[in-house]
Amino acid sequence: MRLILVGPPGAGKGTQATAITKRYGIPHISTGDMLRSAVKAGTELGKKADAYMQRGDLVPDDLVIAMVIERLQQPDCVNGFLLDGFPRTRAQAASLDAALEANDLALDAVVLINVPDDLIVERIVGRRMDPVTGDIYHISFNPPPAAIASRVVQRKDDTEEAVRTRLEKYVSETAPIVPFYQDKDILKRVDGVGSPAEVAERIAAALAM
Ligand code: AP5
Repeated sequence: MRLILVGPPGAGKGTQATAITKRYGIPHISTGDMLRSAVKAGTELGKKADAYMQRGDLVPDDLVIAMVIERLQQPDCVNGFLLDGFPRTRAQAASLDAALEANDLALDAVVLINVPDDLIVERIVGRRMDPVTGDIYHISFNPPPAAIASRVVQRKDDTEEAVRTRLEKYVSETAPIVPFYQDKDILKRVDGVGSPAEVAERIAAALAM
């Protein structure tokens, strides 16, 4: 399966990715995670991306496209992949399409998770991540277990100000890619309001159709 997860910040893409990738035995390719690793490692890419990410702006297309195209050439992608957070612009969608077409490949589905803005801010500001396992928690909706509660951290871009910028970028840059996939008849719209298990069931049903 070659899949894409699209949705505003905090829609639950990372949360849902685990179950989807387990079900289909495909790698989870999160451009946000890849960029955060690059920042942490202090690579050239990380140095360039850091300021954009902290502000909630998109990292320039050329940097992200090169990173993803290289990742898709790794052997674990031979039977498919789940892209989370890519593409995020029309240029990224066109580049992905061209790269797949060049290898006689096509996407199977694009899952769009919809969540209203007020809930997004609450989810993002309360999010905490375990730096050891990468697991995602929320201080109210899914608190970390006591044994690891002291080590969970808040992402630098999970401030209310940066979230507003990320939401604006989603509307102006990312939402315009939705009709592109709708026209290809591979778009699956899923309501992201409800428990993670309920949303997971909706995604499984949408992908089975
Ligand atoms: P990225 O890491 O992709 O961030 P994002 O798209 O803003 O998405 P998030 O990770 O914030 O949210 P999510 O949908 O994964 O939600 P989650 O499951 O964690 O990108 C970060 C930055 O990197 C960008 O701003 C940009 O600068 C750069 N970047 C990345 N890709 C790029 C690209 N392609 N081009 C250019 N720049 C790029 O859930 C959020 C919270 O809600 C958690 O606390 C979770 O526990 C909780 N939660 C989840 N589901 C539920 C539920 N059903 N009920 C209750 N709580 C829930």
